[in-house]
Amino acid sequence: MMTKTRRSAAWYGKLDKDGFIHRSWMKNQGFPDHAFDGRPVIGICNTWSELTPCNAGLRDLAEAVKRGVWEAGGFPVEFPVMSLGETQMKPTAMLFRNLLSMDVEESIRAYGIDGVVLLGGCDKTTPGQIMGAASVDLPSIVVSSGPMLNGKWKGREVGSGTDVWKFSEAVRAGEMTLQDFMAAESGMSRSVGVCMTMGTASTMASLCEAMGLCLPTNAALPAVDARRKALAHLTGKRIVEMVDEDLKPSDILTKEAFLNAIRANAAVGGSTNAVVHLLAIAGRVGVDLTLKDFEDGTDVPLLANCMPSGTYLMEDFCYAGGMPVILSELAGQGLLAPAKTVLGGDISVYADGAECHDRDVIHAFDAPVKPAAGLRVLRGNLAPDGAIVKPSAASDHLLEHEGEAYVFENIEELKANIDRDDLPVTPETILVLKGCGPKGYPGMAEVGNMPIPAKLVKEGVRDMIRVSDARMSGTAFGTVILHVSPETQAGGPLGLVKTGDRIRVSAKDGILELLVDAAELATRRADWTPEPPRYTRGYAKLYIDHVLQADQGADLDFLVGKDTRPVTRESH
Ligand code: FES
Ligand code: MG
Repeated sequence: MMTKTRRSAAWYGKLDKDGFIHRSWMKNQGFPDHAFDGRPVIGICNTWSELTPCNAGLRDLAEAVKRGVWEAGGFPVEFPVMSLGETQMKPTAMLFRNLLSMDVEESIRAYGIDGVVLLGGCDKTTPGQIMGAASVDLPSIVVSSGPMLNGKWKGREVGSGTDVWKFSEAVRAGEMTLQDFMAAESGMSRSVGVCMTMGTASTMASLCEAMGLCLPTNAALPAVDARRKALAHLTGKRIVEMVDEDLKPSDILTKEAFLNAIRANAAVGGSTNAVVHLLAIAGRVGVDLTLKDFEDGTDVPLLANCMPSGTYLMEDFCYAGGMPVILSELAGQGLLAPAKTVLGGDISVYADGAECHDRDVIHAFDAPVKPAAGLRVLRGNLAPDGAIVKPSAASDHLLEHEGEAYVFENIEELKANIDRDDLPVTPETILVLKGCGPKGYPGMAEVGNMPIPAKLVKEGVRDMIRVSDARMSGTAFGTVILHVSPETQAGGPLGLVKTGDRIRVSAKDGILELLVDAAELATRRADWTPEPPRYTRGYAKLYIDHVLQADQGADLDFLVGKDTRPVTRESH
């Protein structure tokens, strides 16, 4: 046995009955004696699942990681955790992000491993895994699924999500046949991998790169590109070294790393979901990150010309140079704060040698796709704890607006009425949707980008102001005000809005104001009661009882923070 004491030695290095048990049962898989000689045991935490098509390529990638771990003298052991298929789960995968994080955390803690490779990709899998790993704080590194190949149909490119919303409006406007709509399905999703727009999955992978949680170029290499396997192999090698260096998430996830991520999110036109995920991750590592910090990225221009804010897709972004180019543009402006990475050195290394091969896909800082693309935080009597809007995906003329509210009390009411020919709305109306926050839906579903009422779609209207306590898909677009906090179900003022009330929005001044006087609101509040909870048992009840509001990352209150104490007791 080797002499260096590792965490795994408390499992595989013991010379007693417990050591016998830990080793012997593992040997039933044909692992030789030297796998247990004290070398680093590397957990490969896999969210592979056929029900998470975005992560369906992760079994292959796990094999590539293992090759790298063996090569570096480690012992790789792959284990499954709950997988969250964004497009397949009801009521919303977000309800289960925190459950995945618990699965990841407890799996890492309970097993005799020294370091972890996190294999994820689909929207909630990346943040859920990082949250869990951060709460144990063993050396950890991310390998992402990578994006699907660009969608192709009838001679045009089709972007995951983004074009679904567009096609669906075109069908409702009578501009696209249902037959074409159905046919486009197969052309859109042509390989395993995550949505190939800059949706939440590619956003979170890009932010992992900006935070130095993965090797450079991890975000954009297509899922089926052979270079992704090579990257997975190199990641397997690197995690073994990280264990020797004791390089942990808490060394990497500093306040500076989060600020770099916020600026990178603006530069790539990233998902609004990055807000709740970064806040939740920060809560686990104990970094004091608040909505206010997102204003730090406000003036960063849009550089990546990718859907939904621009026109290209992730394959194009990769071939143009990917995240290294974005990071080098930020570094050139002094916007990349010093921060440690999984390579041990500074994040600036991730921009080294970056070359842009297509300036239409990745713009230079001084010739951006759009100026000042960062998320705007809005506050006011309608959102005392904040709300957000993504200007790069919004219509400029609606970012400063005052209009009359039309209120849907819940998602069912919206679905039943949005296509009514006599719906009393105009393009200036502000659509309000209640009851879609963390506790209310529950799980804060991606329904904030409400469909435009059919009668307006037929008149050619494609955007309106929409306000809710929901989230929206990272692939969605429009002047959509999201994450209103506190949510309806938690007694937030959103629950008091009535059809006909006037609402003022100013993205420039960060305002979301309900123009109803305080006395009237107090009367309405006295009459207000919350809906009965939609679940009364099981995990969903635990979630409803303990979930924090969106401005705090929608984590469960008892999961905030970490526990790095060794586990001492044995099972037998
Ligand atoms: Fe999985 Fe978009 S649905 S990444
Ligand atoms: Mg999504």
